[in-house]
Amino acid sequence: MGIGILCSGGDSAGMNPAIRKFVDKCIFKKEEPYFIYSGLEGMIDGNIKKASHKDVSGILYRGGTIIKSSRSKRFYEKQYREKAFKELRHNNIDKLVVLGGDGSFRALKVFHDEFGVKFVGIPATIDNDIYSTEYCLGVDTALNAIRMSLDYIRDTASSFKRAFVVEIMGRECGYLALVSAITSGAEVCVIPELGYNLDNLKKRLENEIINGRDYILAIVAEGTKATNKIADWLTNDLQMDTRISVLGHIQRGGNPTVYDRLMGYEFVEQGLNALLDKNISNGVVAFREGSFFIESIDYVASHRYKIKDDLLKLAGKMTGVYP
Ligand code: F6P
Repeated sequence: MGIGILCSGGDSAGMNPAIRKFVDKCIFKKEEPYFIYSGLEGMIDGNIKKASHKDVSGILYRGGTIIKSSRSKRFYEKQYREKAFKELRHNNIDKLVVLGGDGSFRALKVFHDEFGVKFVGIPATIDNDIYSTEYCLGVDTALNAIRMSLDYIRDTASSFKRAFVVEIMGRECGYLALVSAITSGAEVCVIPELGYNLDNLKKRLENEIINGRDYILAIVAEGTKATNKIADWLTNDLQMDTRISVLGHIQRGGNPTVYDRLMGYEFVEQGLNALLDKNISNGVVAFREGSFFIESIDYVASHRYKIKDDLLKLAGKMTGVYP
């Protein structure tokens, strides 16, 4: 029987190194590796191909995913899951490695319970919002892309005495925005996990402007939907010439960093060991405090990811909310 690999949901850097490791290790273990193209959509449509070393040579350094991804609505319907199962059976696949987020893992758990297809989920999303793991594949590359963009924006902001509101991705989670605000030395940080106080921020920034501050960098997480509000406030209350920059999908691209390459390898190593050697029928590979664990899907999906308090505290004066 064979093992399939697929990507589901937003792509993230590190998927290609993970795919490469998957093929290498399967062949080493004398298992047949299969690519399932375009995620769950491709599984329904039977877009499946046996993989070889040749398919993965020269992909390690590339961002995105060579096997493509999708967000599938059809997979929520039983008739399409039945179709997907038929396609897997047709290709002799009875196990899956799934790179994606907890929504995809939950859908795969339903599929497992219905048809007995074993699988491991590998957390891969730039949002870093999956419960039980401190790290999701692609986060480091995304943070570096944001860091580079913010360095560039700071150059132009300081040349013009301007304020910039930079909107950072994260559908519900402010992790990318928080870490980026801290590491770029932003003046303002607005994320869903923390409140903000514009009066306190105004007092502080007015004082800094009197003392020579000539530009402001405000980082706003996509999930707060506060980008325009913060821009209006900077314009009207602080009389700054203000621009908005939505970084958008640039954050999802780029060559995987060394860390994402390594983590891609390690996640897959652990995932395949669980499936092949430990006979685990389904689970998520989680990374915490330097070690890997296999967690149950129910445990992962029934809790909400929380950013660590110590990290939230580093937002300090950037929110204007003081203890
Ligand atoms: O992959 C996660 C993410 O990039 C979120 O940060 C963002 O809200 C969403 O995906 C964007 O999705 P799409 O690529 O479908 O526009």
